[in-house]
Amino acid sequence: MDKTIDLRSDTVTKPSPAMRQAMAAAEVGDDVFGEDPTVNRLQEKVAELLGKESALFVPSGTMGNEIAVKCHTRPGDEVICEAGCHIYNYESGAAPFLSGVQFRPIQGQRGVITADQVESAINPPPDHFPRTSLITLENTHNGAGGTVFPLNEMARLYTLAQNRNLKLHLDGARIWNASAASGVSVKECARCCDSISVCFSKGLGAPVGSAVAGSREFISEAHRLRKLFGGGMRQAGILAAAALYALEHNLDRLEEDHRNARFLAEVLANIPGIKLDIEAVQTNIIIFDVAETGRSVAEIVQRLKEKGVLVVPFGGTRIRAVTHLDVDQKDIERAVMVLQEVLY
Ligand SMILES: Cc1ncc(COP(=O)(O)O)c(C=O)c1O
Repeated sequence: MDKTIDLRSDTVTKPSPAMRQAMAAAEVGDDVFGEDPTVNRLQEKVAELLGKESALFVPSGTMGNEIAVKCHTRPGDEVICEAGCHIYNYESGAAPFLSGVQFRPIQGQRGVITADQVESAINPPPDHFPRTSLITLENTHNGAGGTVFPLNEMARLYTLAQNRNLKLHLDGARIWNASAASGVSVKECARCCDSISVCFSKGLGAPVGSAVAGSREFISEAHRLRKLFGGGMRQAGILAAAALYALEHNLDRLEEDHRNARFLAEVLANIPGIKLDIEAVQTNIIIFDVAETGRSVAEIVQRLKEKGVLVVPFGGTRIRAVTHLDVDQKDIERAVMVLQEVLY
């Protein structure tokens, strides 16, 4: 029996034996007291990598984002975001629930919104209007198919935010992929925002963990909010060790995932009835539309599963496949054969 090729998400990776060894050997302490040396080492490394004053280890990307929303807003405020973004669509309504804010979603192009669009969505001073206090961006943009947010537009947006006294938070769950694809360093991206969240549990292959970074003042409040949200962990060095291992060993290989995604996408794009925006395949995510095959998403997902390839329905008639460090070129070649068998 061939191994199952799991392309549902880059979050499905399992820690390698070497990563597990690093976890087992981690020096630990009580992180709520700030005494876990491995967590402290990770936080210092992340702050340094991102060029921010400080960073905080958190259990998930969602918690990183939601801490940032809470820090930067007051209840009743409005948050400008791109319509397909994760914070708005896929965090179980956490921001309105935890921070009492509402969203002003703007339709972007492949996940990118412009400073002009945002400027016209900023509310006039209150009384009647919710106070606009925060802009959130996502790089890479999951819902748009792993697209990279151009640095020049981010810089324009950050200038606008500063001029209008707004904060800008970047959901950088896959900032590593954005940097690998564009050649723009994560530090340059992080320079264009007040806070950034990053994940170690996606393309980098750690089992758990994210970080949020920003000014010392922001992180001091983030530390309080992490406890309030139930994310204060104790001997979390075991998890931080996996994140450190991931940063040391798995950053340089992301290009391989991007090449695999591109190969898969090019084959898919040539299958009759499949609609795929090849320009959007910039990193490790492929989204394709099967409407014109005359078959349902459920049927296609099931037939692929029976043949050992897992993908996920991605809204309407779309399907998503994601490459990652637990699928190599050979696996992708087999996935391509299966896709051709099922879709032709
Ligand atoms: C862009 C983006 N941001 C945030 C998250 C949330 O991360 P987590 O699943 O660790 O909460 C995800 C998860 O896939 C994501 O794709």
